[in-house]
Amino acid sequence: MRIGVLASGRGSNLQAIIDAIEKRTLDAILAVVISNKAEAPALERARSYGTPAVFLDPKTTADREAYDRIILEQLRRYDVELVALAGYMKIVTSVLIEAYANRIMNIHPSLLPAFPGLAAQKQALDWGVKVSGCTVHFVTEGVDAGPIIRQAALPILEEDTEETLAARILVEEHRIYPQALQLFAEKRLTVEGRKVRIRENKSPHGASLLASDS
Ligand code: GRF
Repeated sequence: MRIGVLASGRGSNLQAIIDAIEKRTLDAILAVVISNKAEAPALERARSYGTPAVFLDPKTTADREAYDRIILEQLRRYDVELVALAGYMKIVTSVLIEAYANRIMNIHPSLLPAFPGLAAQKQALDWGVKVSGCTVHFVTEGVDAGPIIRQAALPILEEDTEETLAARILVEEHRIYPQALQLFAEKRLTVEGRKVRIRENKSPHGASLLASDS
């Protein structure tokens, strides 16, 4: 499976994907990393790994749709089959969503549908919830609203700040994002309306790379 990652920032989830590929717990090729920020550390991580790192300047296009068309050109150029948003801070338009229907994933630092959008960890703390976590979902046109593939939950501690909570959630993000991608690579995901069905691994050799799944 050829993955294309879209990232705007530090790229720790991108790194988790690279590490999982290296450890062979994710059976995929990182085909290209694309960013809307020239200085995104994610691009540097891609270069160090030897993956093409492409900066596409949003200022050169008239609107979001035109920008997504140039992204689509790059994704096709690198034969990308699955797009992984990893800290990508732009709204994805129907141009990409239709071209890659049910083939774009995103990771979000809350238990969706609670706290979509920006600063999800702060939203959770401000609301006073006792449990939060992260969600991997397919991308649809609503923000953080697509069918849910995988979630991890963790307790919110009395002493948590936005930073400590974000750091603990991030550990879970790095665990479940490569897992969700591997489920896709194993063709075990089916989208039925709002739901994502996960087929059991019935291989007689028990070959799933998700053996230690929890
Ligand atoms: C992560 O918390 C992710 O859930 C959110 O943006 C952050 C990106 O972090 N969508 P990184 O760039 O992967 O380190």
